[in-house]
Parts: sequence; structure tokens; C-alpha cells
Amino acid sequence: MSVAVSQPQEEEFVEAQKNWDLEQLYLDLAHAKQKALTPVEKKLLRGLLCSYSPAEIAQKVYHSSKSGTVRVYLSNGIYKYIEEMLSQQKGYSVKLKNWSHVTHLLENAGYKRKNFVLEEKFNLPVKNSYQYTKHPIPAEFNTVQDWGEAIDVSNFCGRKVELAQVSEWILQQDCRLVTILGMNGIGKTAFSVKLAQEIQDQFEYVIWRSLHLFPSMNMLLTDLMQILSPTLEIDESMTLNQRISQLLERLREVRCLIVFDDFHSVISQSLSYPNYFLAPNNFNQSTRINYYQNYEAYSELISRVANSQHQSCLLITSREKPPKLVGIEGEKLPVKSLNLTGLDMNDSLSIVENQGLATSDYTDINILINHYSGNPLFLKLVTATIKNMFCGNIYQFLEYRTFIFGDIRKNLDQQFSCLSEIEKYIMYWLVLNPDVKAVFTLNDQILPVSSSKISSRIILENLESLQQKSYIYIQSANIFIFQVWKEYIIQYLQEQNLSSKKDIENLLLSSDQSLVSQLK
Ligand SMILES: Nc1ncnc2c1ncn2[C@@H]1O[C@H](COP(=O)(O)OP(=O)(O)OP(=O)(O)O)[C@@H](O)[C@H]1O
Ligand SMILES: [Mg+2]
Repeated sequence: MSVAVSQPQEEEFVEAQKNWDLEQLYLDLAHAKQKALTPVEKKLLRGLLCSYSPAEIAQKVYHSSKSGTVRVYLSNGIYKYIEEMLSQQKGYSVKLKNWSHVTHLLENAGYKRKNFVLEEKFNLPVKNSYQYTKHPIPAEFNTVQDWGEAIDVSNFCGRKVELAQVSEWILQQDCRLVTILGMNGIGKTAFSVKLAQEIQDQFEYVIWRSLHLFPSMNMLLTDLMQILSPTLEIDESMTLNQRISQLLERLREVRCLIVFDDFHSVISQSLSYPNYFLAPNNFNQSTRINYYQNYEAYSELISRVANSQHQSCLLITSREKPPKLVGIEGEKLPVKSLNLTGLDMNDSLSIVENQGLATSDYTDINILINHYSGNPLFLKLVTATIKNMFCGNIYQFLEYRTFIFGDIRKNLDQQFSCLSEIEKYIMYWLVLNPDVKAVFTLNDQILPVSSSKISSRIILENLESLQQKSYIYIQSANIFIFQVWKEYIIQYLQEQNLSSKKDIENLLLSSDQSLVSQLK
């Protein structure tokens, strides 16, 4: 096959004209080449812009199954001119590693026609003042996606309201940072995957990453930049801050959705004690959420993603709210968080049924679901036990009266151990005083520790924290404990033979008198 002898027809791959600004591209490439492109070069370029591989071009144009000549012709011509043109435009060396990068790079460089505008298709409202001008996303745009180890969500149920809410924050309000919070197993990871799937076509890049293996910031940035800028050569001498700046620059150029799942892996939640309910001699070490040593750069990353202007979104899932987020969140700000609580009765029922537990007695199943406050992980675990140990008989399981056991207990232990001593104290107190509910009166009623009364500030701060961590919820200014926590605390108190208020007070005070000073 000879490219020179077999001159292809000028009209071939003419459909590239529809989507690409060919005139400008020919001109700019000619500038890089310092000579006009030949008709053959233009044709091969159009073939690539129509997403044909060199082998397909060889087949279509020259009816040959051998693509060697086309490849050589491309490597010695078009590829070199594209690299030269883009390097000049960007101010750094751009290298083409693969023919499939051509369309991607040229699109990012703005040569694709802008015949589709996000706002028009979705009839989105006027932009907020904090919005960065969005890069219009062409109709035929192929999103670059990297889902990492994202879980399978084909059996995902419900959460329609929450999905709609967070989609609106991201697509209509252009939030730059969204955090999904909630207790162990409540479904944060599943929610993040489902949400990203639902809105993926609104982004040029979708990257989903779990942080459960504690990747260093350096590793994570390298990983992200390899996807977002495959031709960019990593400069090892750059500081972390410079590398974060490089990422932000890219988030300005292209519209990306990046998900960091299990963000709690990089923040330390508390000290862990062998006995989760007691922390002898440690009351004076108040529980502060902070980044683990060497992971502080995550704080820098999220605050810069939240504060600087760009057209992308970082979605985080975490059991604990990342430090520093509090001050930068708000109704009218592009930084928001959502607390996921349990699934409603119908969706919980779907989980139980999907796990193969059939029942005709909906009273029993409602009681069962209520015991676990609609936590999907716990429902899955308990369903397995009911099938395995009770031959699928929910009534027998309910009669057995042990709801917190095995992995459910381990999960709750792990989470409860992260509470501060004062938060634990308030939880015990609320469980033992089920009649007292109004936030307004709690101040006067809550059990004084020793001779000291707990200050109203401490009560309010800790109630808010317990609410944010999904231990309690507030309805009409009344406090309610999630059933699963009530069960857990009652079980513990029974195990310890502690049932009176005095017992609890003694339990805490016997450990360390300094609790009293913390409570003031
Ligand atoms: N809406 C849902 N529909 C069906 N299954 C769900 C739903 N939400 C969660 N699950 C399932 O429940 C289990 C726990 O969910 P997931 O791992 O998302 O919880 P999590 O909040 O991320 O937990 P962790 O705090 O440990 O990271 C998983 O098996 C998941 O597939
Ligand atoms: Mg998770």
C-alpha cells in the first residue's frame, strides 16, 4: 500500500466538519508545520477526528488490512504537528502517546464545535454569583471515566430525594465541594457511586477513588493528573502546594466530577480504648477530629477546591465531617453537606427481600427494620443471620431479643469509641431518661456531674455533634435517639449491670475527675 500513489478522495471523513473547527485546526497545524497541510494529511486528520483508528482508516481509505503506512505517515506528520501546536499553546511539552488521545487533546484545546450548552439542554436557572463559566459540553462528548474500585450498585434502592438534592447542588448550584456524611454502613459509598452514575454525562471527566488504603497526597495527585492530563510530565521537584495548584488549573479548564470515598480514613476520629465505654485517665484528652500525621495536605486540597473558582466538583463521603469545613459551608455557598440517615420502610424492605428473606407478615418485618433504623448494612447482616440461624423466621428472631451482635456490634463499638466522653455521657443520660426530650428544658434537667452542672454551651455543642453523627435526631425541638443506638447502649448497660443514673455518674467519675472541669 502506498499513501502517495493511492490518493484518497478529498470528501472522505467529511463528517468531521460537523463537529470540529477544521479551518482553524488546519491553519494552526500549518503554523506548527510552517507549511500548509497536504490533502492526505488533512484526510488522515479528519479520520482521527471521526474516531477511526489508523487500522480503520487504512481499511476505509485504502481498502487494506495493513495499517503500517498510515501509522508511519501519522507519526512523521500529523502527530508531530499536533504536539508542536499544543506545546506552543500550553507552554509546556505535550506528547501524544496514542492515536486515541488526539480527539481528547484537541477537544480540550477548544477545536471541537460548541453546539451544545448544558444550561439549554437541562433548562437550568441563572448562574449563582460564585459560578465559574462552564465549558460547554458537546453533545457527542465521550466522558473520560475512571471508577477505580467503585462498588456495584445495580441493586441500589430508594434515596430519590437525597439523589435529587445533591444533583441539584452540583448541576444547578455548581457546588464545588459536597460532603456525604453518615454512620458506618448507612450507604455513603453506594450513594456516591449511584449519584456519580446519574450525573456522569454532565462532566468531561469522572474519577471515583476510595481512600480506604490511605493514599498519600502525592500518590493521589499523580493518579488524578495521569487521568486529567495524560501527556503532562510529572515534575518531581514540585511542592505539594504547586501540585495542588496544577490540579486546580485543570479543574478550571475542564469540568470534572471527582469522588473521594471513605475520606474518614485520613482523619483521626479519636483515641481507641480497649473498653469502649471507659477511657481511664483520658478525660483530659478531648476528642478532636484532625488529619492523621502526613495527611494534612488533604486539608489544603479540600479547602482550595472549596474556595477557588473552577467548574468542577469534589464529592467526599465520610463518617466524620472533615475539620475546617464548618466555616465554609452554607445555604448560598458552593460548599454543602448532606447527612444520610436510614432508608425508609419500603426501601429497607427491598433490601431484606433482595437478600432472599421472604415474609408475608409485614408487622414483624417492620419491627425488624425499626430495630436497625433502616441501616442497609445492618439489615443485610441481620437478614443473613435470620436465614442461617432461624430458618428465615423473623418472628423467632424477634423473640430471641438480641439485636446487637457479631459484625453489627463491632461496627457500633468502633463508632461509639470515637465519641468524646461528654458525648457518651449525654447518650447514656438520654437513654436512661426517655421522658425528657425537649432541647429547651434539657439544660435544667440533665444530670449534674458530681456537684457541677453541665453548661448550656456544652450541651448544645454536643447535641449538635451527636445529631451530625447520626446518634440522635431533632424533631419539633425534641430529641430522639436512633433505635439502633438505644438498643446498643441498653445492651451495654445490661452487660455491665448499670441501670441507675447514679451508676452512670459513678462510672464516669470514677475514671477521672477532670471530666467535671471539661463540662463547665
Ligand atoms: N440504597 C441502598 N440500596 C441497596 N443497598 C444499599 C443501599 N445503600 C447501601 N447499600 C448496601 O449496604 C452496604 C453498606 O453500604 P455502604 O458501603 O455504601 O455504607 P457506608 O456508609 O459507605 O459504610 P462505611 O461507613 O463503612 O464506609 C453495602 O453492601 C451497600 O451495597
Ligand atoms: Mg463507605
